[in-house]
Amino acid sequence: MSRLDVFINRMVSQRACLDHAIAETRGMSGPVFELGLGNGRTFDHLRANIQERDIFVFERKVESNPASTPDPEQTLLGDVMETLPAALERFGATATLVHADLGGHNLEKNDIFARKVSPLIEPILAVGGLMVSSDRMYFDDLVKQPLPKEAIPGRCFIYRREA
Ligand SMILES: C[S@@+](CC[C@H](N)C(=O)[O-])C[C@H]1O[C@@H](n2cnc3c(N)ncnc32)[C@H](O)[C@@H]1O
Repeated sequence: MSRLDVFINRMVSQRACLDHAIAETRGMSGPVFELGLGNGRTFDHLRANIQERDIFVFERKVESNPASTPDPEQTLLGDVMETLPAALERFGATATLVHADLGGHNLEKNDIFARKVSPLIEPILAVGGLMVSSDRMYFDDLVKQPLPKEAIPGRCFIYRREA
């Protein structure tokens, strides 16, 4: 499989998992959290498809395309290891959808970071809320969900707080 194939599979899976999670959490009122703004493509997809919920973006350095840059009041600037605990204090366990795309090209580093950040993501999710990630996460209480049929296994992961 070429790097182009891997990239396309990741993008197709990301969109399929986000569309699935948006539909599954429609009707819930808590905020949506985008962890890792990057170019802003997935943020733009979330805001294009979610009208009824606030979206907050966690990013250490905003360098997104100007066409998909969140407003300053939507942006929680800094390292997620600090901004996630602050968000828990501010919002409580109210997030209806958390999307994390924090990794880079080094899969080993991504996995180490996923292990560190999982315990900070877990408590912010509301009951019934979904967490979509590009990396496998390490949760105690969130339950791994089946992927939508368009997603490629291993390229995207979905977890749910059931109770
Ligand atoms: C792969 S990009 C996200 C791409 C985005 N999903 C898109 O569609 O354009 C990852 C982003 O996560 C951010 N990031 C990585 N680790 C972070 C951390 N510990 N705290 C805050 N932001 C972080 C990076 O700065 C980068 O902008």
